[in-house]
Amino acid sequence: MAANSTVIYRKDYTPPSHNIDSVNLVFDLIPTKTRVTSTLKITPRPGRRSDALELNGENLRIDSIRINGEPALSDQYDMFPGRLVFRSIAKPTEIEIVTTINPQENLQLSGLYMSKGNFITQCEAEGFRRITYFPDRPDVLSKYSVELHAPKDCKVLLSNGNLIEEGELPDGRRYAKWEDPFLKPSYLFALVAGDFVANEESITLADKRQALLQVWVEPGNDNKTAHAMESLKKAIKWDEKKYGLELDLDRFMIVATDDFNMGAMENKGLNIFNSRCVLADENVATDTDFTQIQATIGHEYFHNWTGDRVTCRDWFQLSLKEGLTVFREQEFSGDQLATESAKVVQRLKNVRALKAFQFPEDAGPMAHPVRPESYTEINNFYTMTVYEKGAEVVRMYQTLFGEEGFKKGLQEYIRRHDGSAATCDDFLNAMADANNADLSQFALWYSQAGTPRVSIKTEWNEQRNELTVRARQVLRTFPGQPKPKPMLIPLAIGILDDKGKDVPLQLVDETEPQGTTRVLRLTQEEQSWTFTNIIRQPTLSVGRGFSAPVIFDIDYSRDQLIFLAKNDSDLFNRAIAFEKLSLIAVDTLMNEMRTQKNDSNLSPMTSYLTTFQEILEDDSLSPAYRAEVLKLPSETAVAEQSIIVEPELIRSALALMQKKIGQRLTSTLEKWMKLCETIGPYKCTPELAGKRALRHLMLEYLVASGNVKAVQQARTLFDKGNNLTDKLSGLRTIALSGTPIGRELIQTAVRAWSNEPLLFNKVLQIYALARPSKGDIPTVEKMRQMMFNQAFDIKNPNNVFSLLRTFFQNGGPEFHTLDGTGYQLWIDTVLEIDKFNPQVAARLGRALENWRRYEPNLASMMYKALSYVSAQNNLSNDLREIVDKALYEPV
Ligand code: TRP
Ligand code: ZN
Repeated sequence: MAANSTVIYRKDYTPPSHNIDSVNLVFDLIPTKTRVTSTLKITPRPGRRSDALELNGENLRIDSIRINGEPALSDQYDMFPGRLVFRSIAKPTEIEIVTTINPQENLQLSGLYMSKGNFITQCEAEGFRRITYFPDRPDVLSKYSVELHAPKDCKVLLSNGNLIEEGELPDGRRYAKWEDPFLKPSYLFALVAGDFVANEESITLADKRQALLQVWVEPGNDNKTAHAMESLKKAIKWDEKKYGLELDLDRFMIVATDDFNMGAMENKGLNIFNSRCVLADENVATDTDFTQIQATIGHEYFHNWTGDRVTCRDWFQLSLKEGLTVFREQEFSGDQLATESAKVVQRLKNVRALKAFQFPEDAGPMAHPVRPESYTEINNFYTMTVYEKGAEVVRMYQTLFGEEGFKKGLQEYIRRHDGSAATCDDFLNAMADANNADLSQFALWYSQAGTPRVSIKTEWNEQRNELTVRARQVLRTFPGQPKPKPMLIPLAIGILDDKGKDVPLQLVDETEPQGTTRVLRLTQEEQSWTFTNIIRQPTLSVGRGFSAPVIFDIDYSRDQLIFLAKNDSDLFNRAIAFEKLSLIAVDTLMNEMRTQKNDSNLSPMTSYLTTFQEILEDDSLSPAYRAEVLKLPSETAVAEQSIIVEPELIRSALALMQKKIGQRLTSTLEKWMKLCETIGPYKCTPELAGKRALRHLMLEYLVASGNVKAVQQARTLFDKGNNLTDKLSGLRTIALSGTPIGRELIQTAVRAWSNEPLLFNKVLQIYALARPSKGDIPTVEKMRQMMFNQAFDIKNPNNVFSLLRTFFQNGGPEFHTLDGTGYQLWIDTVLEIDKFNPQVAARLGRALENWRRYEPNLASMMYKALSYVSAQNNLSNDLREIVDKALYEPV
């Protein structure tokens, strides 16, 4: 663990003092004492402030240091906690450092560690310093050659780049030599050694070169790699075609491992993946997983250009590679879908995740700009803001300049910065120059935190046939900071006439209309536009396709929302209109429940149900779209729009609403369940997945209404389904309905699936969400029991996240109990995990950060829980930053 916790500021950036031209690494891989010999060729950089060379190191034992072949003398260097400083390197120098590390004891999963007997590395952001002393910063780019020596049973020895040779050492151990032809920062270094098998395939690239693709997995999992391989090939073709960016290596490898802190990692030529983001077949992966795997494989592959060939100057620029790569991954995923409506479903899912998780982050104590100004622990800044809001910022360039303009900008960026470390400003400047635009105001998206609100008013002048649209932007102000400046916010709008048809859009000073969707540029605090030829009663559709990561405030009447939900030609906004309608319905229910205790005569509005039914019966809409639109808002989404969060009330209102829909629309729901039946062997196509999604949604409503036949159908899905999507859906539906057989079915699943890690994690998630039925012991107790299950491993991040994060984030009133037992579980587990894996502990720690928004009884207990953790004196920097910001950051 790092020895000190200091705040690091973006303004303090200084360039490196020395270049590390080449790195040669020799690993003698032994689980408890791996010896690392690192030879660095160093040249001082012109203009450096000092001849001192500072190397980072953490948890390393130094065996020897040599300078230009001679043992280093003690007056040539100084040791500090976490640093080794050579006093003066004023000319080209070779330094050899031999260190010993203990991969077996490395439970942080950062640096070199063991997973099921295999050696794995994870170096982003600052893991390389846990392998050897090095200037562990992304703006030091070097050529790497690597030699691996390993025990006999390590059949597979991998590192970045090209395999130079491999074979047996005189003592019977195995060795391999690798060379990476490209410059890279240390965070992209990787090695893998152990027992793996590969699914491999040779492909021809656009320029006719051959490349070898390999997906390495544990023996026995090789039958689950086909989807990953297909996804990789699609990603390679897509980047060639879309942006002219080719695979630059002869060999591209993916390795799957069960013990991994995050989803996956883009190490040059050797991507390492959490197995849940690679392995798939109909028995271990759901429709969602298939899509997710394709996206993640795409994401890591696209990093090869946006991240690896062009990397980040410093970690404040993280969104330069992450926001851009998430955007590229989203575009790739969209392009794999055949229909407009399927693309909209994907967009809706992304935007809903942004609203449910990034918006609260941006409104809470961890709020930070897309390019943060400071951090204590960089691992805490792999956030929804840097990734997902960052992707929306990149999307806005495309919204402003069009696909062609965006492509020109991206290519210009690569042309300028290939082989180097760049900044967010560099990206903005390339976009601006390629499109002859002034983006100085747009730059505020990188420096101002908080979700902007755009409130919109319309005025229709019936005599003049004019519609005036007034927009006002309201930005979050932070205590003690200057007032934020108005931002450039692209507003994609359309106007519907009284029949629901799009009106051609013509501003008063224009001679002819220009299309039916237009992007207005809001640049001032307040601005207005007047459209002419608006002859019939207009309705404004604003933020089409979610044209900016903002909250659109517009006072629609219920009738207007219904009208938009039925008629908007923009399918995205149609769904959003219905979502608003649902949120109003939930809100109305919550208000009624607050005042009258007896809920038997409460019901959502009739007009809501009619609209629901109309959308459900609209055959022009794909089943996938209907399923996405008609599902109720999540508890998190309702919480996000509540001023004071009352988990119990949210739960009851949503449950009641679900029940009423099930009761009032029974025959229609049953009809669509039948119509969406899929027969034959499982295939994950968007069409079939859409049918399954709609069918399962119908089933959920029916089960919620207490329909006995439906409960039986759900049970049959779980028992007899020929694919995991059906099985899990049956199980989840029953578990979430609180039906007494739920617990029994879950126990069956736990027993049947505890030997298969992917399935065990699935069942842990459902276990954490299951609603108790009468007489059940409290869910918190159930959680503690599961942690004693012999299949549950607290050292494994997937197990921890599946069980605990699911519970802390989505457990609702089962977690937020008035007796405080939920928070006590949070305290106990966060503190226990922090002792060995601070990254994971910090991620769990964030579950309480928005405590201020909860109803007072809960809020004060949450505050106490945070204070208790904060009072411990052995916290990691990671967890300390999270709890202290939650407690003390002014909001
Ligand atoms: N760069 C990785 C990605 O977005 C994510 C990542 C960062 C990561 N740090 C990590 C993955 C630590 C695993 C562990 O693709
Ligand atoms: Zn990434």
